[in-house]
Amino acid sequence: MGITRGTIRIRYIFTSVHISSWRRIGEPMDRENGKTSDSSPRTELAKRLAGKVTLSSDVSDADIAGIEFETLVAKILGHFEGTEGFRLLDKALLFQIKEMKEEKSPDRIESPKVPQEAAPAKDIESRFSIRNADEMQTKGDVADFTAYFNDRLEKLREFFGNARGASLGSMLNRIEGVRQYANGREVSVVGMVYDKIVTKNGHVMATLEDETGSVKVLFIRPQKEGGREASVLFDSATRIVTDEVLAVRGKISGPFIIANLILWPDVPIRLRKTTEDDIAMAFISDIHVGSKLFRERQFSRFISWLNGGISHRKDLAGKVKYIVASGDLVDGIGVYPNQDKELSIPDIYKQYAVLFDFMDKIPDHIEVFLLPGNHDAVRLAEPQPPLTDDLLHDFKKDNIHFVSNPGFMTLHGLKVLGYHGTSLDSIIQAIPGCSYSKPEIAMAEVLKRRHLTPVYGDNPIVPGKKDPLIISEIPDIMHMGHVHRNGNADYHGTLILNSGTWQSKTPYQVKLGHMPTPALLQVYETKSARLSEVDFNFAEDAQ
Ligand SMILES: [Fe+2]
Ligand SMILES: [Fe+2]
Repeated sequence: MGITRGTIRIRYIFTSVHISSWRRIGEPMDRENGKTSDSSPRTELAKRLAGKVTLSSDVSDADIAGIEFETLVAKILGHFEGTEGFRLLDKALLFQIKEMKEEKSPDRIESPKVPQEAAPAKDIESRFSIRNADEMQTKGDVADFTAYFNDRLEKLREFFGNARGASLGSMLNRIEGVRQYANGREVSVVGMVYDKIVTKNGHVMATLEDETGSVKVLFIRPQKEGGREASVLFDSATRIVTDEVLAVRGKISGPFIIANLILWPDVPIRLRKTTEDDIAMAFISDIHVGSKLFRERQFSRFISWLNGGISHRKDLAGKVKYIVASGDLVDGIGVYPNQDKELSIPDIYKQYAVLFDFMDKIPDHIEVFLLPGNHDAVRLAEPQPPLTDDLLHDFKKDNIHFVSNPGFMTLHGLKVLGYHGTSLDSIIQAIPGCSYSKPEIAMAEVLKRRHLTPVYGDNPIVPGKKDPLIISEIPDIMHMGHVHRNGNADYHGTLILNSGTWQSKTPYQVKLGHMPTPALLQVYETKSARLSEVDFNFAEDAQ
């Protein structure tokens, strides 16, 4: 029997919109609402130009056929930029615009390869493996959703076995089973959170469900004399989010369980794992190549630094053996309305070409792992596959590896979990104490829940038969990006890292009051477990 949620239907309807957001290059799509269109090219173009340029009736589908759509829209809008009055795009003008020379790419900044005489990492052999997230095949029907949520519940329930189970009492009950007990009886259940509310008396009430039924669990607001334990429990209850799996112990009271303990799947406390070789790993994300705000000069300095061309922290540069880049490698196209105005390269292939130009200049002895993010041109729904061949064109280099999002890598014996971090938006919103200024706190909450997207729905995920976003293996390093702000912490022996960005503050971030940390590279020395920050905003003459 499947999980008995009335929620399946709601979740199905909600997410079926997202599953449709599988995308092909050139296919117009608005990622804000995940809609694609199957209307004719002419209708689609008219729609994209609506309110800005009127499409003349003499333009036919055949006139537009075979043209890279986003580039064409950018060219048309560029042509009319600054013009007043009625803007009409007729056939003659369309042909003229089609013939226009490609928009000039920004002047490239040289990041020369220089001989790197003192790079100890060169003499150390790399040891790595990659485990991509399973390609999920799904029809996105109700049965798939039921299977998906069941898998989430079953897998996460396993984490409450053994030692952790001991604190829950001798027996974990299935939810339907607790109804047979009298008031006052202590029970323990594991369930998925259907909802959480604050009652008018200020108590927290969560509905937990499993395959057999659902039950309401009350977390009583502590009285002043309630003591520390009561307030810790209540504080924990305020951090419960919908769709996560947790365990509670408590006493039966009529239709409720009055909780006295709450547990998340969590990771055990361990000592930080180190390597024998004195090497370093550099973590980057959110490069946003193609954005007008991409800090190309600073990124070029980073590449020069890897090549030994900058004296600042040259010692550290020589130790870098691995680089992990967790998503938003390019700025993309059509990610949000009017993005074209903020692009210096309005062509997705050219954005990747510039990125690979940089990658090409990274010394061969450094292994680089590239994951996609929500701005990259692969399927938006997670797990995202590695960058596809059509984006790579002929780019191929033995030390550059393409990984899924999330992606699991073992680098020199250390388990590294890379995830772009799109779910951090919903976590920051849902959990008190989490904020964009300290992404490491939200990331610790993710690890505690053993799930990369505990809150279902805000960022699209593929509801396959298995839940690929469960953190089944405990990572030594968990790396994310997406929030454009550096952060790090040790959580139970796992190094948590958010690697900020290489893009200046966007107008959107200004509006929301976010403070990004561009071009501050985090480098981790794996023998000494020392984390350093290298600032590539430093003055040019520091070279
Ligand atoms: Fe980003
Ligand atoms: Fe992102």
